[in-house]
Amino acid sequence: MSYHDTLRTLSEASVEQHFDAFVDIAWDDPAYAVDPRDERWVLPQADVLGSTEWYRSLPLERQIEVGLYRQANVTKVGLQFEQVLIAGLMNFAFALPNGSPEFRYATHEATEECHHTQMFQEFVNRAGVDVAGAPRLFRALGPFLPLAARRVPVGFFIGVLAGEEPIDHVQKAILRSGNEIHPLLGRIMQIHVAEEARHIGFAHQYVEHRAPRLRRHQRFVLALAFPVIMRWLADAILVPSRQARRDMGIPRSVVREVYWRRPESRQMLRDLFADVRMLAERAGLVNRASRVLWKLLKIEGRPSRFRSQPSSAAA
Ligand SMILES: [Fe+2]
Ligand SMILES: [Fe+2]
Repeated sequence: MSYHDTLRTLSEASVEQHFDAFVDIAWDDPAYAVDPRDERWVLPQADVLGSTEWYRSLPLERQIEVGLYRQANVTKVGLQFEQVLIAGLMNFAFALPNGSPEFRYATHEATEECHHTQMFQEFVNRAGVDVAGAPRLFRALGPFLPLAARRVPVGFFIGVLAGEEPIDHVQKAILRSGNEIHPLLGRIMQIHVAEEARHIGFAHQYVEHRAPRLRRHQRFVLALAFPVIMRWLADAILVPSRQARRDMGIPRSVVREVYWRRPESRQMLRDLFADVRMLAERAGLVNRASRVLWKLLKIEGRPSRFRSQPSSAAA
């Protein structure tokens, strides 16, 4: 399928299947009420923090408390990231010429992300924990990152994937784990996973299509930036900020182990990026120097052979 056709298919899919934060979630259904003593807030094993010895040995009520905080905070980080994304999509679309195939899809994506930020914020509000979300540096740079979308759109969409791939990966792992999750959070994740599949598809398409058309020196710089962007944004999303660590009372030694010294954590970190490693290869955004960076940043590994290939097969 040609690039234009793929974008049209994605746009049509957005028209056919889309969600409204306040139509498609029965917020006031009593089954969706957030009870801060509910055992379903205990972190699943699929969350790297939830799988630690430290967490498992906390008394149940602390596990619930930390679990609710952690899930609200991850949701807050996700929505902050999406706010940056929406602003970037507008800058991106602003610079597109008439007749550009990207305009329509980028705008569908922004519409969907607006609904995501609404549903995420509503969840945070109902969770009743005053979480700050992303680390300070990300929040400070938040207003400036969207400017990249106009000047270096390929770099911007690499950044989009750096946020969307880890969130998607973690949400799918939780949904597939078979653990009992709170139905409100379950519904939110289900909606999110459904729409993110398209967003991730678009970012892959865009980078794969546009990167080979850049000048050589631009490709060289982007190849180096690629793993750095991936690792920085994945950390901003997955690793609890200093404030979050303090609020949850996670000992420093546990933080160091989990992010990312333990072999299981390292494996997970590498698995997150199998699809983007494939993209980097396909888009011609890999060179000898950049391979060293992927390795130094501990996100090297075999690329997937196709998108969403199960990680056990890709590792
Ligand atoms: Fe989203
Ligand atoms: Fe998205």
